[in-house]
Amino acid sequence: MKRISSLHQYCHQYQKSIDDPESFWEQIAEDFNWHQKWNRVLDWDFQTPQIKWFENAKLNITDNALDKHVEKHPDKVAIIWEPNHPDESVIKLSYRELHDETCRFANGLETLGITKGDRVIIYMPMVVQAAIAMLACARIGAIHSVVFAGFSAHSLADRIDNCQAKLVITSDGNFRGEKTIEVKKLVDQALASTKSVQHVVVFKRTGQPISMKTSRDIWWEDLVSNISTKHQPTIMDAEDPLFILYTSGSTGKPKGVVHTTAGYMVYTAYTFINVFQYQQNDIYWCSADVGWITGHSYIVYGPLLAGATTLMFEGVPTFPHPGRFWEIIDKHHVNQFYTAPTAIRALQAYGSDLPKKYSLESLKVIGSVGEPINKEAWHWYHKHIGRGRCPIVDTWWQTETGGMMISPIAGVTPNKPTFASLPLPGVQPVLVDKTGKILEGMNVKGNLCIQFPWPSILRTTWGDHQRCKETYFSMYPGMYFTGDEAKRDHDGYLRILGRVDDVINVSGHRLGTAEIENAINAHKNVTESAVVGFPHQIKGEGIYAYVVLGDDSSMDHDTIIDEIIQEVRLFIGPIAKPDKVLLVPDLPKTRSGKIMRRILRKVASQDIQQLGDISTLLNPDVVQEIIEKAGLAS
Ligand code: WTA
Repeated sequence: MKRISSLHQYCHQYQKSIDDPESFWEQIAEDFNWHQKWNRVLDWDFQTPQIKWFENAKLNITDNALDKHVEKHPDKVAIIWEPNHPDESVIKLSYRELHDETCRFANGLETLGITKGDRVIIYMPMVVQAAIAMLACARIGAIHSVVFAGFSAHSLADRIDNCQAKLVITSDGNFRGEKTIEVKKLVDQALASTKSVQHVVVFKRTGQPISMKTSRDIWWEDLVSNISTKHQPTIMDAEDPLFILYTSGSTGKPKGVVHTTAGYMVYTAYTFINVFQYQQNDIYWCSADVGWITGHSYIVYGPLLAGATTLMFEGVPTFPHPGRFWEIIDKHHVNQFYTAPTAIRALQAYGSDLPKKYSLESLKVIGSVGEPINKEAWHWYHKHIGRGRCPIVDTWWQTETGGMMISPIAGVTPNKPTFASLPLPGVQPVLVDKTGKILEGMNVKGNLCIQFPWPSILRTTWGDHQRCKETYFSMYPGMYFTGDEAKRDHDGYLRILGRVDDVINVSGHRLGTAEIENAINAHKNVTESAVVGFPHQIKGEGIYAYVVLGDDSSMDHDTIIDEIIQEVRLFIGPIAKPDKVLLVPDLPKTRSGKIMRRILRKVASQDIQQLGDISTLLNPDVVQEIIEKAGLAS
């Protein structure tokens, strides 16, 4: 695939992608292996919504991520696996080995009766087998849904139920820093309340004792023993679903974002190669987890489609010491490193002397994703990790967009700290005001929408197309609404300001306030609650919960607060744990009964100078009481 290598080329390609999107993407798609080519590049309407890329084309994505490279460079390392503990051995899998392991597991899945269209949940730590499981599903046409292994049994059960999964692939346990997590036990708990799962495949990682249910549970190694390393990939339609990934929104339970095969393939490969300027012998490392979209698109699919060497790290940035990331970069001579601002801020807190102990000279490009990067973190990252030499790619995108949307192209787009900068080719962003009017020109701020489809746009939300339409395509008819606010400066550069809905971004993890409130409200003494985000030095945003207790609660308040936090861990997982729980007599409400979150956000941010007009509240007195409870009264 030809790479954009100058600003002039970027401008030219961008213009081409706007003037004639179909021939632009068609040309890029020519670089892939197709069983049958498309008869139409794009068919779309954002009203229904209905979007089809490469209509009627037939392919298998693993043919492009594995077989194609096995032909050209079978011994090239596809995946480097760095274990949680540095004393354990590194694993390097060549393209041939990854292909063979994927085929073996694909054959194994078929012996369990899994076929095209079946849903398979992958609930695994960051081991090579997680990637193999995803690829094997794609190989046989099963739709995978990876659930981050930090989610609770309850969250897992919700996802299994929503997509009616037939199979769960998991591990006995999970090593994360000093902790060992009982993953299989959580699966057993989830399956106690769901009915659709017929089998559980268990990969042995920790060796801890677990219970195996006869006729339902099977060890990974048993499934793949004495099985062929050859597997004929299932021919998929361009628009067959590739995976479902659950993500949080403003309301209700997380929704299953559906990505399809061909468009996702073309777009993730194209953006990976261009944004990181990946060259054939580079070692690339993205520190995300495969449980999130970043892991899907830029640990597994994008890099493998590009024939790259992708590093997977099982552990956490601070174990066994806070120099671990930098140590890994030196150990494996990483050329492109991609992480989240929360990790940068957490490591920045250990001081600048720490990265000085490492060479970091292999680095060419450093990236950021998941949340707005603040100025201090940007400069620290640039100076101490990029050594002033590496461009930063601050990549804005979403689970729903499948791939990066607004981002510098490394070494091509001039960097401007904290700006995601310019749209990638094929991406047509607009800023709109509340009425939907497009804000033209420079120096404007508005809600970020995309007015034309790109190949990896979500197609639906699993089992509920109406929800997809309402969430993304109804607020501003004819456009995809991102939920983010952005500003365009005098140079036309875009800076993402954050969410304008009730989604909070904690350490780069998306959480819906309604989800957390539901978990809190499940506590027997809680009458109601309201959750808001507040600025947090390391996590970007923290979780602040205002809780109203029932009259009958004579329990000690500290105990109740502990129980509420426990409840959230159990319902969602440790990532959703509130940083602060404030027991309040009531919540500020409008006359129509709507909670005035604006006021709660101000109190949580300790910014109570300008609370705005509170006279229209049903219960204005409660505001002062909340301020006092929060310890902010002067
Ligand atoms: C936020 C992660 C600012 C944004 C790939 C978006 C960002 C949400 C950036 C999606 C960035 C992601 N700058 N904000 N570079 N990247 N976001 O679905 O609010 O987990 O809507 O996808 O993260 O989060 P998600």
